[in-house]
Amino acid sequence: MCGIVGYVGEKQAAPILLDGLSKLEYRGYDSAGIAVFDGEKINMTKAKGRLKVLEELTHDGATLPGVVGVGHTRWATHGEPSDVNAHPHLNQKGTIAVVHNGIIENYLKLKKKLTGKGYKFVSDTDTEVIAHLLDYYYDGNPLRAITKVMHRMEGSYALGIIFKDYPDELYAVRKDSPLIVGNTEGGSIIASDVPAVLKYTRDVYFIENEEIVRMKKDSMEFFNVDEEAIEKESTHIEWDVDAAEKGGYEHFMLKEMYEQPKAIEDTFSPRIKGKDIVIEELGMSDEEIRAVKKIMIVACGSAYHAGMTGKYVLEGMARIPVEVDLASEFRYRDPILEEGTLVVVISQSGETADSLAALRESHARGAKVLGIVNVVGSSIAREADNVMYTWAGPEIAVATTKAYSCQLIALYLLALKFSKVRGQISDSELSQYIEDLKRIPDQVELLLNNKNKIQKFANRYVAARDVFFIGRGIDYAISLEGSLKLKEISYIHSEAYAAGELKHGTISLIEEGTLVTAVLTQEDLYKKMISNVVEVRTRGAFVLAVTNEGNDEIKRAADYVIYIPETNRFFTNSLAIIPLQLFGYYIAVGKGCDVDKPRNLAKSVTVE
Ligand code: M6R
Repeated sequence: MCGIVGYVGEKQAAPILLDGLSKLEYRGYDSAGIAVFDGEKINMTKAKGRLKVLEELTHDGATLPGVVGVGHTRWATHGEPSDVNAHPHLNQKGTIAVVHNGIIENYLKLKKKLTGKGYKFVSDTDTEVIAHLLDYYYDGNPLRAITKVMHRMEGSYALGIIFKDYPDELYAVRKDSPLIVGNTEGGSIIASDVPAVLKYTRDVYFIENEEIVRMKKDSMEFFNVDEEAIEKESTHIEWDVDAAEKGGYEHFMLKEMYEQPKAIEDTFSPRIKGKDIVIEELGMSDEEIRAVKKIMIVACGSAYHAGMTGKYVLEGMARIPVEVDLASEFRYRDPILEEGTLVVVISQSGETADSLAALRESHARGAKVLGIVNVVGSSIAREADNVMYTWAGPEIAVATTKAYSCQLIALYLLALKFSKVRGQISDSELSQYIEDLKRIPDQVELLLNNKNKIQKFANRYVAARDVFFIGRGIDYAISLEGSLKLKEISYIHSEAYAAGELKHGTISLIEEGTLVTAVLTQEDLYKKMISNVVEVRTRGAFVLAVTNEGNDEIKRAADYVIYIPETNRFFTNSLAIIPLQLFGYYIAVGKGCDVDKPRNLAKSVTVE
């Protein structure tokens, strides 16, 4: 996720900004920039690539003198990673500088309005809209301009702002994107995350939604959106730098699991317009959507598992035939891509060598490719005909959690869009699905908060040798992902089976005490699944069941039951995956494994 730092005080701002940004590097970024007011004008330097480039360009900040400024490390969302798209962004006169984390969902509408008023845009970002909008509303009162802009923006934001007219002031504001402020000796500092300020202060204020801060070198005032002064209490930070980078979580994987509710919401909310699904990036007219005869999903690892869920959802809901293939297989199997086939390549990194090769193979065969990608400007994003981004933000743990969850959401959105356009669901059904979608973030949060129960259970299985995951239909797809999560970080052998396949060989592996995780979220398959549970249990297995609230029958068949909240039959994987992620995580923690960097694995597999 992007990083923000701002400073106003007695010291030179630029070295403090660069130092703060370096403490946020772990969050992932593709470009960086700083803007500092020198007493006459706001000077700015921005550069694509590592922070080192910016440090060299500014001679460690020496070329940007001044005591008030803002800095930013950018993880691209709107617009490719580039010098011009890097933050800060200025208004046309160069008198206001803004850094921003988050996504302004209605930026296109605002951009149109501002363009109509004569504003010229130089970047592709949503952030530049904020700089021009501040300019539009600015009448000499920065606080007023900020509150007016807040009323116009939809989406999430944490902002650091400086105004040339107020050389001894720094402003900060946030909504749904974190921001902290603190007092240092002879200055005030803002940052998007604790590690950036720890060197300067351990007493910080956590800014809440729609709160504004006006800082001077020796004062800090807080306001609400009605410009009324409010009181806030500071918090003393005890964490060391390592813990601070992880936001107080023990591992990035756990932190990223906890980021899922927000990542999921960030992925669906820009695509829900009233009672409809609007996926502008799809680049397909309704006629073209109706003309699709088959969808071919290609991906690796967890992205492939998301694709498996996608197959059940797209086929079940939109009634389009879907094939899912591993990219490493697809590229060498002389695939048949008949006219009317839409290829969907799913990838978190957008750099996975096999997935990229599969994309090129599809193009060579004349197919249109839609990318579902997390990293903006990555190779797959650049080469696909159209890209639907998942807004998970950077993922640091090798084992994917939040990016996978967002891939599921992107696939649901695609299924809803195709189903509606192709007449497979009515307006009222679509409305109900949208309601269910909107409930997922809170439901995920609820499941995450149940972590102690799963940790307790996992502790009993730290010494397990083999674990099996079974499910039918969409629950088989989630079993594949649950099994991968467990094995990749805990090094325990685990396999996922379509439950009906057990009798064709695998059941001979079940012995006294073998752990079998059974996923039962499809009501019409409960009975079949319960038979499978009984089969393995009779042979000595210990059965952990993950099922829907209200499925009481399973209590008699399984040893331990975890319930997921109610949703429709297509979205259950988004909920069932949470206990499975937590289970894999706590087993790995219990075994003392290097959870975030499991042996032999890399985050991005850029070789065959
Ligand atoms: O970056 P991608 O989504 O293309 O990566 C695909 C796989 O390498 C990835 O999902 C891998 O399986 C993860 N380690 C799973 O946690």
